[in-house]
Amino acid sequence: MYLRTCCALTLDAILHRLPPSKAQTIKEEDGMGCFCFLGSTLAVLVLILNLGFTLTNGSSSFSFLSTAAAAKRYVSAIGDPGMKSPNVRVALEAWNFCNEVGFEAPGMGSPRLADCADIYCPVTSDSLGARLLDNRSRCEVHHKVKNSDNSLSAGDKFPIIDFESYEDPDLFAVQKELYLATLCAVDEPPKPWQFWMVMLKNGNFDKNTTLCPENGKRVSKIITGRNFPCFGKGCMNQPLVYHNYSQLVISGEEMVSLSGGYFGTYDLDADLSKGVGNNSFFSVFWQKNLSTGSWIFSHKLTTSAKYPWLMLYLRSDATEGFNGGYHYNGRGIMRKLPESPNFKVKLTLNITRGGGGNSQFYLLDIGSCWKNNGDPCDGDVLTDVTRYSEMIINPATSSWCRPDNQVSCPPYHVSLTGEKIYRNETSRFPYSAYHLYCSPGNAIYLQKPYDICDPYSNPQSQELVQILPHHEWAVHGYPEKQGDGWIGGSPGLGS
Ligand SMILES: *[C@@H]1O[C@H](CO)[C@@H](O)[C@H](O)[C@H]1NC(C)=O
Ligand SMILES: *[C@@H]1O[C@H](CO)[C@@H](O)[C@H](O)[C@H]1NC(C)=O
Ligand SMILES: *[C@@H]1O[C@H](CO)[C@@H](O)[C@H](O)[C@H]1NC(C)=O
Ligand SMILES: *[C@@H]1O[C@H](CO)[C@@H](O)[C@H](O)[C@H]1NC(C)=O
Ligand SMILES: *[C@@H]1O[C@H](CO)[C@@H](O)[C@H](O)[C@H]1NC(C)=O
Ligand SMILES: *[C@@H]1O[C@H](CO)[C@@H](O)[C@H](O)[C@H]1NC(C)=O
Ligand SMILES: *[C@@H]1O[C@H](CO)[C@@H](O)[C@H](O)[C@H]1NC(C)=O
Repeated sequence: MYLRTCCALTLDAILHRLPPSKAQTIKEEDGMGCFCFLGSTLAVLVLILNLGFTLTNGSSSFSFLSTAAAAKRYVSAIGDPGMKSPNVRVALEAWNFCNEVGFEAPGMGSPRLADCADIYCPVTSDSLGARLLDNRSRCEVHHKVKNSDNSLSAGDKFPIIDFESYEDPDLFAVQKELYLATLCAVDEPPKPWQFWMVMLKNGNFDKNTTLCPENGKRVSKIITGRNFPCFGKGCMNQPLVYHNYSQLVISGEEMVSLSGGYFGTYDLDADLSKGVGNNSFFSVFWQKNLSTGSWIFSHKLTTSAKYPWLMLYLRSDATEGFNGGYHYNGRGIMRKLPESPNFKVKLTLNITRGGGGNSQFYLLDIGSCWKNNGDPCDGDVLTDVTRYSEMIINPATSSWCRPDNQVSCPPYHVSLTGEKIYRNETSRFPYSAYHLYCSPGNAIYLQKPYDICDPYSNPQSQELVQILPHHEWAVHGYPEKQGDGWIGGSPGLGS
């Protein structure tokens, strides 16, 4: 099967924060991403979203922002409000099925890279991230991360002593992310921020290995009836990653900006210089929108016969703490924790091509971590639980949560008026608002019937709520109807 997803997206994320409300608080570090993996369709469309969320005990919804008040009182949660910085801060991390490294790809080093570049120009005025020039030939680009940093591999010594080297590729990658973050850090009060994070994940899982724990527990043998893609030994490999370091782009007579990208493949025998052929392929390209000053990220992802399930995200990760899916301290661009429902995300999306019915596209994917008793995560993978809330906007995605399949629904839905509607109230429960709900594998008091989430794809147990465009979510700025935000969908939602 040959599936393909291409998504170009522009992210202009500003998180707005209002005074604390009675709503519960998500204490942990949150990560967010736009996501694209196999199959979909492609659109030409601009979408503006405001999101407000509540997500605990698997139910969601909320009355949300009074926008007039919000507009006046927001504080940006991200380090680069409105993505207006002319400088580049983009890291890349590649994950195996359970968000680790396992084995590095030959000659590729540890799969953590960063492109952090500052532009220096003699300017007459600073216009929206691009610059009006006195004399463009005097512009310079200063790279903070060198090739020798990006190619660091498990066992290598770090150039500065604060970082410990490990032979274990999983442990080394953690240190490398922190090291690259130090090189990239933008020291602005109240605290430094580092980079946007591109995250790539290979969905192959070899059940003959013990690379992945089961609900956070190390097991000596994987015994499960679940099926995962894997072509044979080595299917969980890391990708070949190539890097176009950010360079000056001169547009017209007087505008100059930076642009760069990462691209590559999981097919280790591929020679991309001869074209992509039938190999898997990913690319992320960044450039400035010269009329708004915002960064445009263009993503493209193609699966292949050996790699039928791939994932590509653009993440706004917290600058410290356990981002969703991590069990160690990560780095990112979010300096404040968004607390439901008092935040707002703004972005513009242009889907230019989809990959069919087996492709999901998340807008947004909110990831976080807390224990089943509500305590913050502390890195204990046996009791921590990664929580994800994912809006799937591919209109080809159907609802698995149905009156005759309540096992795939959350125990209850909270309506717009704050009323709890149990999933067995078949005349009232909004089944079509949900694709799937699954409970954490380490929960003790599960409400029957239940479906446990896949126990292998995260370093700890996970809980998932996958939602679909629906009237119930529209009040939060999400698309209201299937097709909104997709090819030919209606633009200008939210705001
Ligand atoms: C979306 O992207 C396509 C392909 O790059 C482009 O032709 C189109 O103008 C874009 N649409 C908007 C509204 O930016
Ligand atoms: C621009 O700068 C270059 C190098 O510094 C110099 O050779 C050139 O004469 C300058 N051009 C103008 C128009 O000032
Ligand atoms: C796992 O082991 C079984 C039994 O030896 C074998 O049939 C199967 O092909 C192996 N799977 C992979 C992915 O190597
Ligand atoms: C990288 O650079 C090559 C050569 O200029 C270009 O063809 C390719 O599109 C670029 N890819 C990305 C993702 O930047
Ligand atoms: C890709 O696969 C198709 C179907 O197997 C084949 O016809 C085609 O020649 C292949 N293309 C390349 C470039 O290998
Ligand atoms: C730049 O932003 C403007 C205004 O939002 C938009 O119309 C245009 O399509 C954007 N350009 C690109 C290349 O996306
Ligand atoms: C519906 O579910 C609720 C909560 O689990 C339960 O209390 C109630 O008895 C159920 N009603 C029916 C008719 O099964």
